[in-house]
Amino acid sequence: MSSRVFPKEMEGTITFTRGVPPPEAFPIEDIGKCFDAAISNDPDVVLQYGHQQGYLPLRRELASEYGVSESEVLVGNGSLQLQDLLAACLVRPGDVVLTEQPSYDRALTTFRRRGARVKGIPVEDDGISIERLEEALEREVPAFLYLVPDFQNPTGVTLSTEKRRRVVELAEERGFWVVEDIPYRKLRYRGEDVPLLREVSAARVVTLSSFSKLLSPGIRVGFAIAPSALIVALSALGTETYLSPVLPTQAAVAEYLRRGLLEPNVERLKSLYTPRWQAMLDAVRRELPGARAFVPDGGFFVSVFLPGDANTENLAGRAQQRGLVLTPGPSFFAESDDEEAPGERFVRLPFCAVTPGQIEEGVKRLASLL
Ligand SMILES: Cc1ncc(COP(=O)(O)O)c(C=O)c1O
Repeated sequence: MSSRVFPKEMEGTITFTRGVPPPEAFPIEDIGKCFDAAISNDPDVVLQYGHQQGYLPLRRELASEYGVSESEVLVGNGSLQLQDLLAACLVRPGDVVLTEQPSYDRALTTFRRRGARVKGIPVEDDGISIERLEEALEREVPAFLYLVPDFQNPTGVTLSTEKRRRVVELAEERGFWVVEDIPYRKLRYRGEDVPLLREVSAARVVTLSSFSKLLSPGIRVGFAIAPSALIVALSALGTETYLSPVLPTQAAVAEYLRRGLLEPNVERLKSLYTPRWQAMLDAVRRELPGARAFVPDGGFFVSVFLPGDANTENLAGRAQQRGLVLTPGPSFFAESDDEEAPGERFVRLPFCAVTPGQIEEGVKRLASLL
């Protein structure tokens, strides 16, 4: 019998699929203490129906962070549910919704489910192509444009300040909403923050974000910031859907913020993720030299377009047999005006929930399949 011993990373399946935090990212003790405090400090509110727009002390914290009034903040059960409510509110059957191409796969399915025709506008190294966006707007005005402007899911790119200015200008001129979805924004590993779209001009901007990537996805706390009239409409739809939001987790997050724990936790996460980000960038450079790689400054994802001559046939299926789990590239692609659909050549490489050793081995396995 062979007695070869493989390093741990070489064994077993390596998962490059969902962008989830690893278990070591959870601030278990502090969250536990905040849950205890939240329930004992305010049981009559947090254990009851109510606060349909979200737990008031948390809305106050968020309103102060974003420089808006409480009436412009809605806290719900994760940001994906708020995305769904937003699509339900803004999309009439047959309306077009524009997204980056590629885009967050679940957003695409959510918008389609609400009757939208979702059209993708190509992403460049500094975010969505303005030229292609302008061309699309000549044809029709969308119900909204959905963007993940910071460390985009799935590519990792960040929208430049100049492009942010032009996007909000177009939205105001042509009268459509821009949804900026920013769950990764605080996880920046290098460089300086770029202004939020709402900081450029808030009139037509809806901001969505979440505590899933900063604390825990399981607590399901996400929020929307938008003009009050839209928040009232979203909240009414929320009440019809889930009666009232899950208040104990919102109260625990409010307590976590009140104790000043978020910033140190974000710093801890950045220290945990930076070596993984670096390992992914190094592995992609080394193992996939012919690929077009997007190099992010933060977030959860590196991504590549494989070279035209790479063997991409049934890539996810063949990868699975080699112990590598990939999300099929086409899931991130909406309908587009381009003849060629490059989805087959697109690979998203989430790096936060895998160790540097697994990253190195996983990218090697990917390269061996091409
Ligand atoms: C861009 C983006 N938006 C929204 C979500 C969902 O966040 P939540 O857990 O708050 O529903 C994710 C999760 O991966 C995401 O990447």
